[in-house]
Amino acid sequence: MSKTIFVLNGPNLNLLGTREPEIYGSDTLDDIAGMLEDRARLLGLEVDLRQSNHEGHLVDWLHEAQATGAKAVLLNAGAFTHTSIALYDAITAIHTPVIEVHLSNPHAREAFRHISYVGMAAKGTIAGFGAGSYLLALEAANRL
Ligand code: DQA
Repeated sequence: MSKTIFVLNGPNLNLLGTREPEIYGSDTLDDIAGMLEDRARLLGLEVDLRQSNHEGHLVDWLHEAQATGAKAVLLNAGAFTHTSIALYDAITAIHTPVIEVHLSNPHAREAFRHISYVGMAAKGTIAGFGAGSYLLALEAANRL
């Protein structure tokens, strides 16, 4: 098994830094990638971080995680979290552990964010700690 952790990000997360900073913080996705790479190096892991606004890309990358023997996937599916049976099916179709990640705490927000198809299939969920959610999820992936 490889030491690679896929970090997959869904729609609108390319706008981190300027998108509703009062909810999502001021770190950009590049800032988060840098933090993850620093921590991964200390843990002897490698990070492959990607972002897409297209649901099918996330499905393809989940398949790729399994095909390439990735150790785990950290998945922040953005709003697809709450809508995507395709992501639910992709997570259940692969053996690679998937950890659901959110910057905000969806359960403390609008009712439509309280359902998570990703969370129904994921190994576990880390949410509500801003950019720190990704670092905590990396630690969790390392312990698997
Ligand atoms: C999010 C939470 C989702 O409800 C929202 O649609 C996002 C970001 C988060 O990281 O807090 O796009 O996944």
